[in-house]
Amino acid sequence: MGTSKVQGADALITLENVATGYGIAQALWDVSLELHHGEIVALIGSNGAGKTTMLRVLSGVLPLWSGEFKIQGQSVKGCTTPDLVDRGICHVPEGRQLFFGMSVEENLRMGAFALQKSSAEINKNLAWVYELFPEVARRRNQLAGTLSGGEQQMVAIGRGLMGEPAILLIDELSLGLAPVIVDRILEALQVIHRQRQLTIFMVEQDVEVALSIASRAYILENGRIVREGRNEQLMNDTAIREAYLGL
Ligand SMILES: Nc1ncnc2c1ncn2[C@@H]1O[C@H](COP(=O)(O)OP(=O)(O)O)[C@@H](O)[C@H]1O
Ligand SMILES: [Mg+2]
Repeated sequence: MGTSKVQGADALITLENVATGYGIAQALWDVSLELHHGEIVALIGSNGAGKTTMLRVLSGVLPLWSGEFKIQGQSVKGCTTPDLVDRGICHVPEGRQLFFGMSVEENLRMGAFALQKSSAEINKNLAWVYELFPEVARRRNQLAGTLSGGEQQMVAIGRGLMGEPAILLIDELSLGLAPVIVDRILEALQVIHRQRQLTIFMVEQDVEVALSIASRAYILENGRIVREGRNEQLMNDTAIREAYLGL
């Protein structure tokens, strides 16, 4: 506040000119983005573009080499993952990463682990997740490893919701799932978004999936953001249609 930089002042999340990578291998170059409260934004890019790396930056798993990372205008550069969880950031990882040897309900309860909440409040969140995903509720006592891919994705999202996040980062929710299941999950995300004004940042290779619920998107190529725009602008962009939709 009080700085000359008006742009970004009301953003929930800001990345400014971020570079990072693994060892000496750089994976992101000069990445800047803003997420505003209550938005659904997509990050679109092909395999190896750096999408997961971006989510690792936002969840504090990967340190920045340079640039800035802010939450509500305040630098969180160097903050640990637990710090960022406390600030409301929740990362639903690629491949779901459930505890296969634990029941569905135990997996969901793990999501509330860091919350300083009473068991009554945690049970209320659990009831909400079951209401959003009745197919998961029916399997609450089953081992997570016995679920279908779609059900596992629902549990992974549900586990994220149990922590009452402000921002949900979702890595390739559609990967390996049948279109009808993807639609079902997208529909649930829209309900969640409407009910809780949750900010959602979704990473996708599938442009149609991404733009079906996001209002804006960034396009990532070889670790650089090459385009950004509103849903309808991108949908009507010939280069994007050719590159990502095969049209
Ligand atoms: N753990 C890692 N160690 C080393 N290099 C990695 C690691 N994870 C990803 N990379 C590299 O970083 C780049 C971006 O990868 P990633 O963020 O996983 O892309 P995407 O999620 O878009 O498929 C790729 O060149 C990939 O090989
Ligand atoms: Mg990835």
